[in-house]
Amino acid sequence: MEPALSPAENLGPAQRSIVLVGLMGVGKTTVGRRLAALLHLPFLDADHEIEEAAGCSVTEIFARFGESAFRDGERRVISRLLEGPRHVLATGGGAFMDPRTREAIKARGISVWLKADVDLLMDRVGRKGNRPLLQNPDPRGTMERLVAERYPIYAEADLTVESREGPHDRVVKSIVHALKSAGAISLDEP
Ligand code: S3P
Repeated sequence: MEPALSPAENLGPAQRSIVLVGLMGVGKTTVGRRLAALLHLPFLDADHEIEEAAGCSVTEIFARFGESAFRDGERRVISRLLEGPRHVLATGGGAFMDPRTREAIKARGISVWLKADVDLLMDRVGRKGNRPLLQNPDPRGTMERLVAERYPIYAEADLTVESREGPHDRVVKSIVHALKSAGAISLDEP
């Protein structure tokens, strides 16, 4: 039989899933996958799990059902994932903005905000059409507005790591350092 999961309030930092939050384009998925491999933990991507559960893409969910239906699905999926065994979780940029999703992350996760400036984010989102919030005539203006709205909330994350120009592995290293300092991984881990 599977051992019973500890209640959220009893979880120490080293038992919590590592939850990456931050804006579109900051590299949560790429960085999360590498971090998970390094820590020998499973990697999960919330947007991908939502798409699996819904049977269609995030863009289609927004177009067919609207953003608030997407946020409901996102909240359910993230809560379910965080009930499972420890893992590294990349969340979509809006997840931590939803108060109930944020509560679920605070209860069972150790959150890491990947912070970057607008130039870097705009460089990284490129021209792919897979971000419904940026499908408008002024994606840069939208990104600036999201920075203003979201950064004060992302700042509630347990840890903040800056993502600058350069290889993703540099960010991975900074996260490992921050997680060690927070007691979320032991010193003999990489
Ligand atoms: C969103 C970010 C996207 C995705 C959806 C909404 C947001 O995820 O969840 O398009 O509100 O910032 P990424 O941050 O992985 O692009």
